[in-house]
Amino acid sequence: MRHFINLKDVPAKDLRQILIDAKKRKQKRAKLSTLQVDKDIPLKGKLLIQMFEKSSLRTRLSFYLAIKQLGGGAITLRPNELHLGKGDESLEDTAKILSIYGDGFMLRTDNDHKVDSFKKYLSIPIINGLSPLSHPTQVLSDVFTVEEIKKKPISKLNITWIGDSNNVLNSLIAASVKFSFKLNIGCPKKYEPKKFILDWVKNNNKKIYLFNDARKAAANADVIFSDKVISLNDKVKKNSKVKDFEKFKIDKKIMSFAKEDCTFLHCLPRGSEVKDEVFKNNQSKVWLQALNRVHVQKSILLYCFGKLR
Ligand code: CP
Ligand code: NVA
Repeated sequence: MRHFINLKDVPAKDLRQILIDAKKRKQKRAKLSTLQVDKDIPLKGKLLIQMFEKSSLRTRLSFYLAIKQLGGGAITLRPNELHLGKGDESLEDTAKILSIYGDGFMLRTDNDHKVDSFKKYLSIPIINGLSPLSHPTQVLSDVFTVEEIKKKPISKLNITWIGDSNNVLNSLIAASVKFSFKLNIGCPKKYEPKKFILDWVKNNNKKIYLFNDARKAAANADVIFSDKVISLNDKVKKNSKVKDFEKFKIDKKIMSFAKEDCTFLHCLPRGSEVKDEVFKNNQSKVWLQALNRVHVQKSILLYCFGKLR
């Protein structure tokens, strides 16, 4: 049994193995419809319990499809309907019950400590479906999407992030270390990644490149990523933060500094950080990006259940 909480804690070779499996599985089910089960039915009879303490469209649906396509089933819990959510049952007892009824637990929470506490008390794998510090399933899937589009290992590409230093970027930074790709980050000075993240990169003998000018960050990029300026857990003055990012709004001009065939990716949902002229043009592959979450999360589930081939 393995957990999937932060990319930095998963060995690079395991992350690569997940992507190799996802590629094979995706190819094999090209002719199957949405709910048809993969031929080998690897998670037959297994139950994934999902709990969302914050909104979700993609993560909820893609994990549902992932477990169904592997032959298992899913149930989604709403925290406010649980005793735990009302403060009437301990996390320890809740975790014990989840472990008795279910085979895996996927949690989206606004508290990273809660992921760790569940990990401590569960006897089934836990998957982090987004926390304030990371969004590992999204970013591993994004690495898959990049390699699928560019048809080469991500280590041979220049990746750029233009936007806030949030959970998705933290996971992208971890991915840049695990997969050895060049990462430029463009954001206003006061929104640069936290020191402990930069220290982790340094301690892993890796460099990332920070720019307070979006055009410089975009220079020569093969892929440009962005995300909302205001994340779900952000307790900031929204209007002033959005204003701080005004010069980092991705438009055709910023894209023109990147390579001609540069791909635009965004985990969604989107806000005002990208203009329609980029989001809706054919360099943008955001819908493929969203779809691929199903394929990669299937292999993440198999990894956690000890069933990766
Ligand atoms: N990208 C992503 O995680 O989307 P949801 O918040 O809709 O799950
Ligand atoms: N950074 C965003 C990602 C949403 C999928 C958030 O945390 O709200």
